[in-house]
Amino acid sequence: MKNTLAISSLHASTTGGKEILHGISLTVKKGEIHAIMGPNGAGKSTLAQTLMGHPGFKITQGKIIINGVDISHLPPDQRAKNGLFLGFQYPIEVPGVNFDNFLRMAINENQKKGVKKISPLAFRQQLTDQAKRLAFSKNIIGMALNEDFSGGEKKKAEILQFALIKPEFAILDEPDSGLDVDALKYIAKTILSLDYPFGLILITHYQRILHYIKPDFVHIMINGKLVKSGDSSLAKEIEKKGYEGYLNNVSLREAPR
Ligand SMILES: Nc1ncnc2c1ncn2[C@@H]1O[C@H](COP(=O)(O)OP(=O)(O)OP(=O)(O)O)[C@@H](O)[C@H]1O
Ligand SMILES: [Mg+2]
Repeated sequence: MKNTLAISSLHASTTGGKEILHGISLTVKKGEIHAIMGPNGAGKSTLAQTLMGHPGFKITQGKIIINGVDISHLPPDQRAKNGLFLGFQYPIEVPGVNFDNFLRMAINENQKKGVKKISPLAFRQQLTDQAKRLAFSKNIIGMALNEDFSGGEKKKAEILQFALIKPEFAILDEPDSGLDVDALKYIAKTILSLDYPFGLILITHYQRILHYIKPDFVHIMINGKLVKSGDSSLAKEIEKKGYEGYLNNVSLREAPR
């Protein structure tokens, strides 16, 4: 289906054979924001990494389909070419690689066939504009990828990549972790300022970010499964009551007979 990221009955295991995702189904259309919440160890980051094709996880059942193309067994760069973007919970540092060069390459690499490559000058202008919007305290032109960044700046850099790459679908794994209130606002503002349709999966522990970026759907993940879906009021309920009620349901269902 066009304009859709469809995840169906996805089961994924570590390379050591431990199954972590036990059948995740989720359909994200362009223009929709889906939040995934869940306790530590539920499998949220595993889902993000499995979607992006991290070599540490293996799909054992189910499919990931973008715009009708089955990307389940494609390498990460091919998934990105098909329109997927992954922001890491703990962005990596790459010493010696310039952030701006890396990003320009990534953008040109992701360009559909026939689209003109972005010129270095035009790129720098876009980069400077977005960096200003995100209130980067430093001039990021010429800085090494993530190496010279603080924790919060790494998160901002991830959103900067999102804003410039303009993917059709993105999974952001805790983009709000370790951010001060102002940085959180800048990140939300940047995401909301993107003027093209995209589908977003936002993994978060807190409702804080959802005040700024209101999700259309909220899903709760427990033990590698989505156990409940609802609208943004579900996030408020979780903040008040926690996951305990859901945990009990799961353990009852999974208790040996
Ligand atoms: N490479 C691995 N080998 C073995 N177990 C793993 C591996 N990666 C993750 N796990 C396990 O899978 C489960 C899910 O981990 P994951 O990081 O996906 O959780 P999460 O929902 O993102 O948690 P958090 O909210 O703390 O970020 C955990 O029990 C974790 O220990
Ligand atoms: Mg995680």
